Amino acid sequence: MISPKKYAKPARIIPKGYKTANEFFDFVFNDKDMIWMGQNTNHLHDENQIMDSMIQSIKKRDYNKYPPPEGFPELKELILKDLGLQNEFEILITAGGTESLYLCTNDILSPENNTITCDPGYLIIDNFASRFGDHVKSVPIYNAECGYKLTPELVRENMDNNTKLVSLIDPLNPLGSSYTKAELKDFADIANDNDIYLLHDITYRDFARDHQLMAKFAPEHTVTVYSFSKIYGMAGMRIGSVIGVPDVIKSIKAIVINDLGTNVVSQRGAIAALKSKKEWLSRIKNTTRSNQDIIKKAVDKVEGAFIPVFPSEGNMLAIDLNNTGVSPLEISEYLLDRKVFTREGSYTSKLFGHRYLRVSFSIPPEHVEYFVEIFLKGMKVLMGSK
Ligand SMILES: Cc1ncc(COP(=O)(O)O)c(C=O)c1O
Repeated sequence: MISPKKYAKPARIIPKGYKTANEFFDFVFNDKDMIWMGQNTNHLHDENQIMDSMIQSIKKRDYNKYPPPEGFPELKELILKDLGLQNEFEILITAGGTESLYLCTNDILSPENNTITCDPGYLIIDNFASRFGDHVKSVPIYNAECGYKLTPELVRENMDNNTKLVSLIDPLNPLGSSYTKAELKDFADIANDNDIYLLHDITYRDFARDHQLMAKFAPEHTVTVYSFSKIYGMAGMRIGSVIGVPDVIKSIKAIVINDLGTNVVSQRGAIAALKSKKEWLSRIKNTTRSNQDIIKKAVDKVEGAFIPVFPSEGNMLAIDLNNTGVSPLEISEYLLDRKVFTREGSYTSKLFGHRYLRVSFSIPPEHVEYFVEIFLKGMKVLMGSK
C-alpha cells in the first residue's frame, strides 16, 4: 500500500458543484464564452508568426522525431540573448517554469536545508521545497510596510544557518510587486555572504516597466526561471527554461526528468515568439496597462475595496475586499455564474486568501469592461444582502 506523501499543499477550494479541481478546470476550459481572468495567461496575441511556425512544424511532422535533449541550440541562444546573459551562463529548455522550479529545488536543497518563500506567493514552490528540503518559512508580506514583497530585511530576519534557498518571484504572483536594483544588490550580498541560492522566478518579467535580473548581481548564486506561458501567450504549449552558471546547470542536468527533450512544436513556437517579440511586445504591454486602469477605476467606486499594489508590474492584481463584508469566494462565484472566471485569494495565500480576489487582465479590453460591469453589480448586490 502506498500512502500519499505529506508535502506543503496549496489551500485550494473546489468550487461548488464540482467533485474535483480537475473537473472544474475542464468545465471552464471548454466553455468558449468564459472570460479568462482566473489564470495569468495571455489572450492578446493575433494570428501571428508564433501560430504559423507551430502549424508549419506540425505539417512537416517534426513531431515524429525526438528533439535534442537539452533544447534546440537556436532557442537556447535566443533566450540568453533576450535576457542579455550570453557570456557566462548556461541554459536548459524545460516543459515550463514549473519543471524549472522543481529541478531547482531538487538540485539545490538537501534534506537539512531550509527555504524562504513569501505569503502571498506561488504555493507550488513551497510544495517543491518541502519535498527536497526541511523547513519552508513562508514569510507574511501582505502589508504596506514591506511594500507587499519579501524584502532583504525580512530575509535577514527569517534566515538561519540551514537556509539554502530564497524564492524571489518578480513580479510577484498574485500582487504584481517587483524589485528595484538596490534591493537585488542587497539580496546578492546576502546570497554571497551566506552561500544561499536565489531562485529568481521571472515568469512575468516582460509586463514590468523596468525589470532587473538577479543573475547580473549574483551570477554564481542565482537560478533564473523563465516561462513562455505569459507574455508569449503559450501556456498550453508547456515550455520554459532554467538559466544559471555552467556548474549549476551541469548539476541540474544530472537530475533531469525529461531526458528525451521538450515538445518540438512548442520549441518552434518559442523560437518564433522570441524572433517576433519586438513586433508585438509594446502593444500587449500597453493593453495590459490600460486594462488595469479600467479595473482600478471600478474598484475605487466600491467602498472599502482597494488594490494593494497599483500599478501591478505583472498581468494580474489583487482586489482587497476585506472591509466590504463580501468574501472573495462569494464574488468569484457570482462572477463565474455570469461567465467571468477569477481566482479567490486562497489559491495564492494561506494567511490572507480570505482578503482578496485575484484578477488577470491580459485579455481584450471589452472583456475587462464586461468584468467591471458585473463586478460592480455583484458587489452592490452582495454588500446589500449583508
Ligand atoms: C510565479 C510563477 N512561476 C511559474 C508559473 C508556471 O509557469 P509555467 O506555465 O511556465 O509552468 C506560474 C504560473 O502561473 C507562476 O505564477
